[in-house]
Amino acid sequence: MTDALSPQPTPSAGATAPATAPTPVAAAPVDARIIAVTSGKGGVGKTFVSANLAAALTRRGLRVLVLDADLGLANLDVVLNLHPKTTLHDVFTGKAQLEDAVIKAPGGFSVVLAGSGMVEYSRLTPEVRNEFFNVIQTLAPQYDVVLLDTGAGISDVVLFSVSLAQEVLIVATPEPTSLTDAYAAIKVLATQQKRQHVRMVVNQAARAGDGRAITGQLQQVLDRFVTTDSGRPVRLIHMGDIPADSSVREAVMRRQLLMLQMPGCPAALAVAQLANKLESTLLKPAGNP
Ligand SMILES: Nc1ncnc2c1ncn2[C@@H]1O[C@H](COP(=O)(O)OP(=O)(O)OP(=O)(O)O)[C@@H](O)[C@H]1O
Ligand SMILES: [Mg+2]
Repeated sequence: MTDALSPQPTPSAGATAPATAPTPVAAAPVDARIIAVTSGKGGVGKTFVSANLAAALTRRGLRVLVLDADLGLANLDVVLNLHPKTTLHDVFTGKAQLEDAVIKAPGGFSVVLAGSGMVEYSRLTPEVRNEFFNVIQTLAPQYDVVLLDTGAGISDVVLFSVSLAQEVLIVATPEPTSLTDAYAAIKVLATQQKRQHVRMVVNQAARAGDGRAITGQLQQVLDRFVTTDSGRPVRLIHMGDIPADSSVREAVMRRQLLMLQMPGCPAALAVAQLANKLESTLLKPAGNP
């Protein structure tokens, strides 16, 4: 196994969330593949990728959980057309048990939804930090892969949720604004969280091959301006491209999963390929130690 594919160190069971921000990546609490799906700029497709990737990984036989880590502005429920009785907010505030917040999504995977419009999650308090950490620590061992659908940007809440993941999948579009913000986010992840590598998927690509070229350009800028503690530049690993496809918007408007409704459309095929690549490079087969 290469450096890039090695798991981040995991503390022992019973560990508590680190007390100060920025949080080092070693916060990843358990032995499971926890992947943060994040971005610099908002609206680039994180929730679309998380939900459909989860469906594709489930189809490959993996036990998958998606956690809506976009606390305060959650909308995974909208995309999946779910109306949860219990959200993370209820768990954080002690009104419900965690197991009641885990529900089945249409693609056969599990989700924990967050609830929207709660200003208390715009700031990272010690309570949120500990609750969030405990939720992941409790749930992750039950799954082969946990996807954290995070908010965009580099706020302390977003960075904390990303710090709970062993791997980061940055979603970016080819637009210069998205790439500039992706650069900023990667820089913070490399310097504050000591990430040696970050994975990247280019969404809404206009042409095949665009994403690899864009990732290469971004890598060149990172090589020049960002060095990790090890003295090496942070490495961007291109995981795939998803084409701009009108079916994506149609599925969102109908509140249906693209992978279920239009599995043969170009964007769905690209997500299936991404699932294949993630599984083969990153995830252990279900049941294997
Ligand atoms: N490959 C694609 N082709 C066409 N449209 C797309 C594609 N990916 C995403 N979109 C459009 O972009 C919209 C926003 O996507 P999504 O909600 O997943 O972004 P996000 O990064 O999660 O946003 P936020 O930062 O607000 O959480 C979708 O509703 C869809 O209309
Ligand atoms: Mg989202």
